[in-house]
Amino acid sequence: TQRIFSGVQPSGNLHLGNYLGAVRRWVKLQDDYPCIFCVVDLHAITVYQDPEALEHATREVAAAYLAAGIDPQQHIVFNQSRVPEHAELAWLFNCIVRLGWLNRMTQFKDKAGKDKEAASAGLYVYPTLMAADILAYRATHVPVGDDQKQHLELTRDIAAKFNHDYADRIAAKGLGVTMQMGEETVEGYFPLTEPLIDGPATRVMSLRDGSKKMSKSDPSDLSRINLTDDADQIAKKIRKAKTDPDALPSEVAGLAGRAEADNLVGIFAALAGRAKADVLAEYGGRQFSEFKPVVADLAVAVLAPISAEMRRYLADPAGIDAILRDGAERARAIASQTIAETKSIMGLLDQ
Ligand code: TYM
Repeated sequence: TQRIFSGVQPSGNLHLGNYLGAVRRWVKLQDDYPCIFCVVDLHAITVYQDPEALEHATREVAAAYLAAGIDPQQHIVFNQSRVPEHAELAWLFNCIVRLGWLNRMTQFKDKAGKDKEAASAGLYVYPTLMAADILAYRATHVPVGDDQKQHLELTRDIAAKFNHDYADRIAAKGLGVTMQMGEETVEGYFPLTEPLIDGPATRVMSLRDGSKKMSKSDPSDLSRINLTDDADQIAKKIRKAKTDPDALPSEVAGLAGRAEADNLVGIFAALAGRAKADVLAEYGGRQFSEFKPVVADLAVAVLAPISAEMRRYLADPAGIDAILRDGAERARAIASQTIAETKSIMGLLDQ
């Protein structure tokens, strides 16, 4: 059985990269898979969050999911801290993961900055909690942006090591499932989860600097389009986006070495649900002075209804909380079974 899991941190400034790289793609996947979408508040607190701002941001991310078209009845929407099994499984995985694996994580190096001694221990083991999020539901597919690729590889490594270390127990308890790994058939308790990273916007870059990804924490608000921006702000940010003086190429190969141009074309393509090649076939030869207003109009047309819906949901915080509570209950029913089975495989007396 296949299952989707994904999540967004409620750490402020939900932006176009989060939408195009993740949430918008989830909406489509709902038709084909059972899905679990989480607001990962326990990940957010790996760096200090103002408590009231965290409460608001958690509801805001949930509102974005709903406004984008996630169906919380057919699927599951909840906040991570309401399902204690995530933290519990993360501990078990902390005993599986190797320090060497964690030391290779580039996101830790980026986020911890120069003074690693001052980073929280939570930031360091962030990826084991992420593996726990996914594997608590034995999810088979995780749709994310390109920046999460390394974390997904670590998740597979943890699953594979667990399956290997406890192979005999898993078999003895009849808890194994067979999985197709390319040519090979392997048996294990946890699936080797596949990342789903595709489309023209898996890595949306800053509007001010084509070498940096669009991020929640960039000090320049002009660097990103927030899902809460109004039409004027969106148009202004695209107008001011950094570009080069050349016209758009007519083929994708012509975007090589033109990071800012590539980014705007990718954003437009993702918003339009078209391929970059198709966009360039239409707009190749045009100047940015012509292309930018087209991008801005489409961005406003796509995002304005979403931000209006978000505001509508946020006007009723109790309504959002009820959805999250209901989702957590249904999530917990699945995760608690995984925890019970994992503990019994490992020899932890529980039942
Ligand atoms: P987070 O909150 O940083 O980002 C949420 C999602 O948005 C994607 N994303 C981007 N995509 C394209 N361009 C960008 N500039 C951009 N910035 C962010 C991210 O790849 C992600 O898909 N660790 C995760 C949250 C998480 C999670 C999980 C995800 C926790 N547990 C389990 C999947 C499964 C994170 O920090 O995402």
